[in-house]
Amino acid sequence: MARVLILYSTTDGHTIEICKRIGQRLETYGADVELADLKEDPQLGSYDFDKIVIGASIRYGKHQPLVNDFISRNQAVLEAHPNALFSVNVVARKPEKNTPETNPYLQKFLKKISWQPQNLGVFAGRIDYPSLGFFDKQMIRLIMWITKGPTDPTLTIEFTDWDKVDAFGDLVANM
Ligand SMILES: Cc1cc2nc3c(=O)[nH]c(=O)nc-3n(C[C@H](O)[C@H](O)[C@H](O)COP(=O)(O)O)c2cc1C
Repeated sequence: MARVLILYSTTDGHTIEICKRIGQRLETYGADVELADLKEDPQLGSYDFDKIVIGASIRYGKHQPLVNDFISRNQAVLEAHPNALFSVNVVARKPEKNTPETNPYLQKFLKKISWQPQNLGVFAGRIDYPSLGFFDKQMIRLIMWITKGPTDPTLTIEFTDWDKVDAFGDLVANM
């Protein structure tokens, strides 16, 4: 039975939902899945795993700096296992920006790190306007207006393609 460690970086929790869904998919293959928050500085030596996945969301153009830090500190361990990385952002709702090759945030991130993940994923995230504070709400509405997305501040919009997340789970199961 493969043991898969999924590490995540999230601000509002949607990346955890995606990790859970990948985990459920992996469990259909009989995998044993463990999730851990990068914010808690997980020590890889204390986990028993065969494969490793990192998922991180974008906020104001960047993944949280702790993602880069974790990767640079643990690159050798990452490389010693079948591995994958995915990014969550709303630009990925656009068909022309929703693959690892075409998503600008993932491409920029890959140029900043020296780890070359064996497998990559990009998923469109969620905008939950009612949960945002005044500044973030206005900023996201402005960004959405510029990029022709929804601006109604009463809406929660989930752009995530869950079939695509399941397909990524299949990819991890077979890596
Ligand atoms: C304050 C804020 C800033 C964001 N900035 C960006 C951005 O620059 N580009 C983008 O594509 N998505 C951006 N997003 C969308 C998030 O990536 C999306 O909401 C994602 O689902 C968040 O995942 P999380 O809940 O795991 O943090 C932003 C969202 C918020 C709330």
